Amino acid sequence: LDIDLAIRGGTVVTASDTIRCDVGIKNGKVALLAETITEAARTIDASGLIVMPGGIDSHVHLDQPSGPDVTMADGFESGTRSAAAGGNTTIIPFAMQVKGESLRACVSDYHRKAEGKAYIDYGFHLVVSDPTPTVLNQELPALFADGCTSFKVFMTYDDLVLSDRQLLEVFDVARREQALVMVHAEGYDNIKFLTERLEAAGKTAPYYHGPSRPQVIEREATHRAISHAELLDVPIMIVHVSGREAMEQIRWARQRGLKVYAETCPQYITLTEDDMKGLNMDMSGAKYVCSPPPRDTDSQKAIWEGLKQGVFQTFSSDHCPFFYDSPRGKLNEKGRTSFKWVPNGLPGVETRMPVLWSEGVSKGRITMNEFVALTSTNHAKLYGLYPKKGTIAVGADADIVLWDPNRKETIRQEILHHGSDYTPWEGFAVTGWPVMTIAKGRTVVDDGKVVGAMGAGSFIARDKSPYALPAGA
Ligand code: URP
Ligand code: ZN
Ligand code: ZN
Repeated sequence: LDIDLAIRGGTVVTASDTIRCDVGIKNGKVALLAETITEAARTIDASGLIVMPGGIDSHVHLDQPSGPDVTMADGFESGTRSAAAGGNTTIIPFAMQVKGESLRACVSDYHRKAEGKAYIDYGFHLVVSDPTPTVLNQELPALFADGCTSFKVFMTYDDLVLSDRQLLEVFDVARREQALVMVHAEGYDNIKFLTERLEAAGKTAPYYHGPSRPQVIEREATHRAISHAELLDVPIMIVHVSGREAMEQIRWARQRGLKVYAETCPQYITLTEDDMKGLNMDMSGAKYVCSPPPRDTDSQKAIWEGLKQGVFQTFSSDHCPFFYDSPRGKLNEKGRTSFKWVPNGLPGVETRMPVLWSEGVSKGRITMNEFVALTSTNHAKLYGLYPKKGTIAVGADADIVLWDPNRKETIRQEILHHGSDYTPWEGFAVTGWPVMTIAKGRTVVDDGKVVGAMGAGSFIARDKSPYALPAGA
């Protein structure tokens, strides 16, 4: 068989199985699973370690245009480096259409931004912010055919919000073309109304980001998106669900037989709105400003129920990194005047897997197999990468993370590889840590040290998602 690399002595954990076996790799793919592999050009000793499919993070923002006052803290070089250090072997960032621009041109721009920079493989979701007839009828079908088989729409943000009519138009294209729709479900007008009232009352500190978008606003938008999807019989994925209220809408939709998928993120099991207070309402609360905002401990409990009961298919980072202490970061000149100008998003691509392992597997809330499904396999299945990625099986890409289930670490900015100047999880203690990340058979990160080659990661044209097929209603 001429095995290039054998991973020996570990416990292989996939979304479905836990097996003591060795993994043989040849030409960047898994070639052999056997009780013992004795002949290989190179061997890695994985005894005492868990051998899992590398993480797939299907919700990552890199190098995104963020307005005249703000620069994003990660491009493809630092973003994929950080992802790999956190146990990931594939990410799917967004190619975001700027209103007035062609979507095709935006995608070409992202290809240029990523080319030669990535340590691990990547795909692109599209973001549709300007659904002109050309975008709907020509560009979207062509880009789906090129392997960008999913797109996100926003129900809020001045530069991104779509009207109900526009949502229906893009949902209709998704159904015809079998593309998977991701929805940012928070309602624009509700947020704007509350924001103006808060500002008028002088409540402008980062903390008031939370009160400006309470759960009812997320719940209303989730229900509205589900109704549009039902009207057209198109499957949708509700991303970054923050708490019980949106979850209730998702459960309700599923009871009606609708194909509604859901994602949640580390911030919604570990942070609360109080983190946005900072110390004594100082500006450091800006570090935690993201949307939807972190809620309360009851919401965290609800999210855990959802993770255990299968409400959530994917657990993603929503990595959207900004600097804290920088004139072009969270506290840019305008950001100091009102929470509404603080760029929304947290860096978290590197800490996603350790946080879920530690809080989930180590604390007995979810199984190892559920962990793999939530961090890798389901992302591959939903977004057209399976079984090339998302599992350890003969013929699959050799995208593997070696995981020490017992290793204790304290998350600190100084051990991370991202571009941001802070982590929201500073001082957070975890049990369980990635000790080696292997992508297409090559070691990318070895015990925190990046040993892979920039440019070794490539663009992956994704298949159409089988989960985007209409229910047939
Ligand atoms: O606050 C967040 N989540 N920023 C990232 C953009 C998005 O809506 O996912
Ligand atoms: Zn969003
Ligand atoms: Zn996001």
